[in-house]
Amino acid sequence: MPPKPSHFHRASIVLLLLFLLLFLYFFLSPSPSHRRPHGDGLHPAHRLFLSLSPGANAIIAAHLRSLTLRPHLAGTPSAAPVADYVLSHLRAAGLRTFAADYHPLLSYPASSSLALLRPDGSLLQTLRLSEPADPAAAAVPPYHAYSPSGAAVAPAVYVNYGREEDYRALERMGVDVKGHVAIARRGGGSRGAVVAKAAERGAAAVLMFKVGDRGGVERGTVLLGGVGDPLTPGWAASDDAERLGADEAEVRRRFPKIPSMPVAEEVAVAILKTLGGPSMPRDWSDKLPMAADNGVGPGPTLVNFTYQEYRKMAKIQNIFSVIRGREEPDRYIILGNHRDAWTFGAVDPNSGTATLLDVARRYGSLLRSGWRPRRTIILCSWDAEEFGMIGSTEWVEQNLGWLTSKAVVYLNVDCAVQGDGFFAGATPQLDNLLVQVTKQIKDPVQEGRMVYDTWSEYNGGIHNIERLARADSDFSAFLHIAGVPSIDMYYGNVFPGYHTAYDSYKWMAEHGDPSFQRHVAIAQIWGLLGLRLADDPVLPFDYVSYSTQLQEHAFVLSTFLGGGVSIQPLNRSIDELTAAIREALEEGQKLQEAEITEDFAVLRRRAFNDRLMLAERGFLEATGLRGRQWFKHLLYSPPDDSESKFSFFPGIADAISQAGENTGKERLWVVQHEIWRVARAIQRAAAAVRGEII
Ligand SMILES: *[C@@H]1O[C@H](CO)[C@@H](O)[C@H](O)[C@H]1NC(C)=O
Repeated sequence: MPPKPSHFHRASIVLLLLFLLLFLYFFLSPSPSHRRPHGDGLHPAHRLFLSLSPGANAIIAAHLRSLTLRPHLAGTPSAAPVADYVLSHLRAAGLRTFAADYHPLLSYPASSSLALLRPDGSLLQTLRLSEPADPAAAAVPPYHAYSPSGAAVAPAVYVNYGREEDYRALERMGVDVKGHVAIARRGGGSRGAVVAKAAERGAAAVLMFKVGDRGGVERGTVLLGGVGDPLTPGWAASDDAERLGADEAEVRRRFPKIPSMPVAEEVAVAILKTLGGPSMPRDWSDKLPMAADNGVGPGPTLVNFTYQEYRKMAKIQNIFSVIRGREEPDRYIILGNHRDAWTFGAVDPNSGTATLLDVARRYGSLLRSGWRPRRTIILCSWDAEEFGMIGSTEWVEQNLGWLTSKAVVYLNVDCAVQGDGFFAGATPQLDNLLVQVTKQIKDPVQEGRMVYDTWSEYNGGIHNIERLARADSDFSAFLHIAGVPSIDMYYGNVFPGYHTAYDSYKWMAEHGDPSFQRHVAIAQIWGLLGLRLADDPVLPFDYVSYSTQLQEHAFVLSTFLGGGVSIQPLNRSIDELTAAIREALEEGQKLQEAEITEDFAVLRRRAFNDRLMLAERGFLEATGLRGRQWFKHLLYSPPDDSESKFSFFPGIADAISQAGENTGKERLWVVQHEIWRVARAIQRAAAAVRGEII
């Protein structure tokens, strides 16, 4: 029944008024990036990003299944279909996408053998080097990339984790590893460092195993020091690039001197059980099926080990999608994950790759809704990370100049999911943003809670953010060489199938993340971090948390250092930075509230953001760390001593390690000098925050 005319009239006036109000709201209020209309504090486009979550788990699962059909080691023919898959799905999301090739030196196994011989040299037992997990033998056999070819017929010595203290214990037992095959369990630092320590002591070869490996054998690189292609240190390994010769000192220092090989725990134990000699210290047989008084060797049995390496300049491919910023196209928010895997790579790294593709899908939807980021967003799919962060490092080396002046942040996800529990590492100015964002994302397991709740509960009520002093994923070149503030995050930190043929879709679907909701959580956190950094008018960098962290570092250092050195220069520089940050805080607040119409507000905000961006670069020193000039970040680079107690101030940590028990004047001077170097770096950051010349 039609309404009576008078009612109709009144209704249409009300409707008209409503439309007018809606019109006023949408078209006359400030531009979307300044508007925070709703209670959840989210930008409308960011809310849209999160609303695209239903069904994302199935989409991610389908990506992961496709990406992991076959093993896809970098530089091998099977890497190409996976690259094509990523390229085509980034394009299908509506993003401008392209690939860039490099030609680094990669290393593969040609042949290998392992046997146990009786003391008289006759064959006792042939030992397997393959994995039962991969009956199709589709994956590359277990090996250590860049291990030199070699052979050894020698008695074995058990060196526990292969650390300094383990060799000291052997010395006390009168056991020398010289000329013998060292058998080490994983846990004593990077593979390369363990091999180098054994080589220093004259070992002929190293066999490495992981306790509790369930039959899988952990592949990995044994390249030492630094990141990237060993033949093009500091510049990009493009097709026609300058390359150093293999015998140049700069190249030789990165290669191990003796052959090594990963073996299954079962194989290592078969050898260890035949060893005589002094009984091993009690905890050396921890969690191993061996008698506690088993000998450490050497011998009397002999190990016959041969390995033939095959090296070549292989083509690798980085893939990029670029979403050009509307207001600040020359400021870059970079999200990256590697694509290459030792085997099928369902955890490492394609849980991250499938997640990246979901972030791309959502960004594509946002673009179609009319959104454009304020700053440019770059999505990166790296190659050859497993060989030593090669794809990302070559790109950083090639673009160092503009990254230094334009890169705001690098957000890394390697293994998105390898189990339960959220973990994050970050440079400290990003701590608060991580907290804010994880408070807005639903926990993937516990109903009604946020990621932040379970994350902080796991750590006793506070978030526990690691500092990124490791060089074991693609943030390394960004942070340690280019000084770009970085985040690295993942679910779970224990994965038994790490670098083995068990790293398959089946494991993920049955054990790792059957509902794929942890993947979805990472996609949301990663994507929202990217959006906040790309769209917030004032960069969400909180340097108060940086100065608090530095004060803690200085305190830990001061309690460790005895007399003879002064920590004063360091404390003074931290005070200076703290004061600069306090002033900047007020300024940032005002700029946050400044209307775009105020005089030069846009430019003032831009200049302020640049100071926040460039503060991290202050921690770089052009000459780098002593003897390791390729690492430039004086706060967070990996220490040379893989057993160092410090995960910060690597130059000071190394000086302390090298000083050892000797407290001679010269050695104290080196520690003091490193303290001064860090103090000057912090002063540079303070100057950057103030934005004034000094
Ligand atoms: C060691 O193994 C290699 C490769 O299988 C074999 O050629 C060689 O004869 C063996 N050496 C001894 C002493 O058994």
